[in-house]
Amino acid sequence: MKKTVRLKMLKLHKLAVICLFAGICLSGCSKQADNQEKTSIRIGVSLYRGDDIFINNIRSELEREAKSYEQETGIKVNLDIQDAKGSQHIQNSQVERFISLGCDVLCINPVDRMDASSMIDQAMTAEVPVVFFNRQPVEEDMNRWDQLYYLGVDPKESGILQAGIVEKYYKENPEQLDLNGNGVISYVLLEGESSHQDALIRTEWSIQTLKDRGVPIEKITGGIANWERSQASALMEQWLKKYPGEIELVICNNDDMALGAIDAVKREGASGISVVGIDGVESGLEAVKEGTMIGTVSSNKEQYAKVMFSILSDKAMGRELDPELELENGKYYRCPQTVKEQE
Ligand code: GAL
Repeated sequence: MKKTVRLKMLKLHKLAVICLFAGICLSGCSKQADNQEKTSIRIGVSLYRGDDIFINNIRSELEREAKSYEQETGIKVNLDIQDAKGSQHIQNSQVERFISLGCDVLCINPVDRMDASSMIDQAMTAEVPVVFFNRQPVEEDMNRWDQLYYLGVDPKESGILQAGIVEKYYKENPEQLDLNGNGVISYVLLEGESSHQDALIRTEWSIQTLKDRGVPIEKITGGIANWERSQASALMEQWLKKYPGEIELVICNNDDMALGAIDAVKREGASGISVVGIDGVESGLEAVKEGTMIGTVSSNKEQYAKVMFSILSDKAMGRELDPELELENGKYYRCPQTVKEQE
């Protein structure tokens, strides 16, 4: 073999050894980086409306969870909470921003639960898992990716438990509910947003259960007050004027509207009307204690936020989810609820 050829081969051989060595080093280094746990996580949270009382209760619990996780694990949690102010357009931009900031996971309370697809598209493209809560996206959307989760309360259970409060109160104090003693409870209904699963299903099951259990009820009227105290108060004021002395019970899809009805009852000087809610927000529980509400169905907000944060942090850290959560179809969690009624 000629000297120049031998020299070239020797050089090539050396180069191959160097490359091999560098390759081993690099793969070793990247493995080390993969194995190294993160020291901080970033979670983008978007709320459908920052002024919603129940959502605010959940938000406070979530912040508490994040703090205690930091203390327990030493991992820094960047919880970026934004208010979508009732606009799906604003929320879509918030999702875009979260992704561009490098959020590890998203926590979304959708404005329009029927229109979650563009947020899902963005998250899927960027491979960022999403935990939706409280406003359930349609099943077709939820089934698009195995990195989508949903947490909320079971609206059918809320309705049945609410009916149970009225039934028990009626059995114990029939004259308190049937004020005119005609054997029938005349009620008005305050409902949440028309497209919200919690409004539609709660109403259906509350009324159906009362009927099934033989509680004699008769509807005077009803209306949509979008979960809001002031809207409920305005509607109730109209009804009190239109049906003086007729209303005996106010069935409300949530506590804030129940409190609005009570505001109107006080303003109009009406008396004896019973009001029942759902949520167990602090102001609602207070009203039950004071005796202005006969009861409420209280969701366990601490547990709600605990489970939500557990999924968020595991996803952000790239870990397996806690098998004890026993998610329905691997993606749904229903938060437990209990009844709080007058003692
Ligand atoms: C319901 C809750 C309401 C309101 C609404 C917002 O589950 O009972 O008070 O917060 O969600 O989506």
